[in-house]
Amino acid sequence: MESTQQSIVSEITLDSIIEKHQGKPGLLLTTLEEVQEVHPLKFLPHETLTRLSQKMRIPYTQMYSVVTFYSFFNLKPQGKHSIVVCRGTACHTKGSKGLLDEISTVFGIASGEIDSEQSVTTADNEFTIKTVACFGQCAQSPVVAVDGVIYSNVNSQKLLKILAKVNDKPLSIRVK
Ligand code: FES
Repeated sequence: MESTQQSIVSEITLDSIIEKHQGKPGLLLTTLEEVQEVHPLKFLPHETLTRLSQKMRIPYTQMYSVVTFYSFFNLKPQGKHSIVVCRGTACHTKGSKGLLDEISTVFGIASGEIDSEQSVTTADNEFTIKTVACFGQCAQSPVVAVDGVIYSNVNSQKLLKILAKVNDKPLSIRVK
């Protein structure tokens, strides 16, 4: 049952996902990916990782290293929509810090909180905002991904349009 934010994925679901990927290349990554996908809040709770570790006979520390190495794995509940701002050098030079500050302002998040945390989710669970080291598309910087769609050469106006479209209502973002 998935009744609370900290709920775990059911034993039956875990067993069926493990069985599906058994013996295939990349077993651990694909299993973790699918387990995260089936969680309604798109994250991997500690209890779920512990059960997976036991069931797959993979040390918890190894599993945890994988989850913390890849940025697409989440250890905290995620909002309905995701916003990922690139903070690599090229994007920083082209103003990604300003975009992050604007996003913080729009969603009432303390300045600097997003950069220092793995991710920040708005109180209404609508948006999770996080940063990434580089999307590998530096020539199109600054780059922002919203719900998995990559947007390049993003400025405040473009950001406003993207967020308004996703949120289905206007947002009071400052337009430069
Ligand atoms: S630094 Fe942003 S895409 Fe590479």
